[in-house]
Amino acid sequence: MLAFKNLKLGTKLNLILISILISAIAACGIFLSRILETKIEQEVADKAFLIIETMNSVRNYTSSQVKPELASRLASEEYFIPETVPAYSAREVFEGLRKQPEYQNFLYKEATLNPTNPRDKADQFETEITQRFRQNEQLKEKTGFRTDGNGKFYYIARPLAIKKASCLECHDTPERAPANLVSTYGSEHGFGWKLNEIVASQIVSVPARNVYQAARQLQLSVLSIVGMIFLIAIALINLFLKSAIIQPVKKMALLSNKISTGDLDLQFNHNSKDEIGSLAKSLNRMVESLKMALQMIEEEED
Ligand code: HEC
Repeated sequence: MLAFKNLKLGTKLNLILISILISAIAACGIFLSRILETKIEQEVADKAFLIIETMNSVRNYTSSQVKPELASRLASEEYFIPETVPAYSAREVFEGLRKQPEYQNFLYKEATLNPTNPRDKADQFETEITQRFRQNEQLKEKTGFRTDGNGKFYYIARPLAIKKASCLECHDTPERAPANLVSTYGSEHGFGWKLNEIVASQIVSVPARNVYQAARQLQLSVLSIVGMIFLIAIALINLFLKSAIIQPVKKMALLSNKISTGDLDLQFNHNSKDEIGSLAKSLNRMVESLKMALQMIEEEED
């Protein structure tokens, strides 16, 4: 504090202003981070919800409209017609979306512990989520961020349970399943499912990296603008300090020095109506009094 007291007026003021600038930028940065974090989560969550609902709509369309239409063919064909399966059509519709470059890192999967089609096989992360759903039947949805080799993703997962006995016509045992299903998919996987059992997690992953990049950019721009405004303000305050206070005070100090060595005909010329102006007036009055006092002394000596 003592060192601060010894500094020049301009240096003191600038030290204060710069510490305000640094604190303001830091506070602004933290505040913006918080807001952007929430906004990013909202934005990716909105996308993920829209996708999962759309995929459910595709599933419903397949089971209510496509499957009945193809039922007779399905029974007689040598190979199974996967287009009649909701899980297949949802995945295929999504793969179509993924062909567009901006969606290629999005993912929709009915991640299954024991899948009919190997591409639906749950990886370790998805298996853990499905186990969580199995342990806690009340848990209807899980959301969060997940990072892998392709960056950071937001995911929504919902449990997929066997609610209808009709599902078991194909997913119970290979003997019970249609022959064309077994000849197409084999008899190893996708069987042994039980009624009311959670067999899979329906998972949507939305990449968050681009949203994060955009947010960082926004944060940087806002902070630069705040910084610039502060720097301009500091420059203007310095200019004002110099012209309105420091220069007049320096001049007065110089003049006072001269006056103190006997040059009593000098005058402080500062016409402003502010504090510096009234200081100049007082000093002028003091010089006048000094002159009169000296005159009186001289007269008395005579
Ligand atoms: C007519 C036979 C059949 C019926 C009935 C059926 N499925 Fe499937 N299911 C399949 C086939 C075949 C696949 C694999 C499709 C593919 O190639 O992606 C499949 C795939 C799935 C998948 C994706 C994981 C996997 O095994 O590849 C889920 C989940 C699923 N079915 C759930 C159900 C549910 C729930 C029901 C009842 C509402 C049901 N299935 C009824 C034949 C059937």
